[in-house]
Amino acid sequence: MTLLEVRDLHVDFQTRDGVVKAVNGVNYSVEAGETLAVLGESGSGKSVTAQAVMGILDMPPGRIPQGEILFHGEDMLTMSKEERRKIRGARIAMIFQDALSSLNPVLTVGYQLAEMFRVHQGLGRKEAKARSIELMERVKIPAAKARVNDY
Ligand SMILES: Nc1ncnc2c1ncn2[C@@H]1O[C@H](COP(=O)(O)OP(=O)(O)OP(=O)(O)O)[C@@H](O)[C@H]1O
Ligand SMILES: [Mg+2]
Repeated sequence: MTLLEVRDLHVDFQTRDGVVKAVNGVNYSVEAGETLAVLGESGSGKSVTAQAVMGILDMPPGRIPQGEILFHGEDMLTMSKEERRKIRGARIAMIFQDALSSLNPVLTVGYQLAEMFRVHQGLGRKEAKARSIELMERVKIPAAKARVNDY
């Protein structure tokens, strides 16, 4: 079954100057193991589309007046908040464009990585930290054991 299918997705924003139509009928599908690259000029709606898929659009001012986002065939737009929260971070994740504004500079690298394991897998502090180090080692970050304590 298709992993992710976006059908006729529309996103708009209510602003003081009127409605901004940020995404107008986007369609794509991604199979397991497949990589999809989306190209487009700045402001064309790539990030807003990704935010809609992740379920992290600010609503309001954002709105999804039309479309479906099927994950394993199930429309995430009609799921409960709780169901979506289980998928987000555990089965779908996003690497943000601007690390300086999406990571918190007063929390350690280890804390921010471990949060995912604590929230989604219920791991304790020590275990979650060990898993974070393991993942950093897997992507060949040098001296991962020391790096987790960095800010
Ligand atoms: N909260 C918001 N309120 C109003 N307009 C918004 C909001 N968020 C995004 N937009 C608008 O939606 C449009 C799409 O923006 P988006 O960030 O998705 O572009 P992008 O393709 O990711 O661009 P870039 O390549 O620069 O990252 C832009 O016109 C942007 O100004
Ligand atoms: Mg963007």
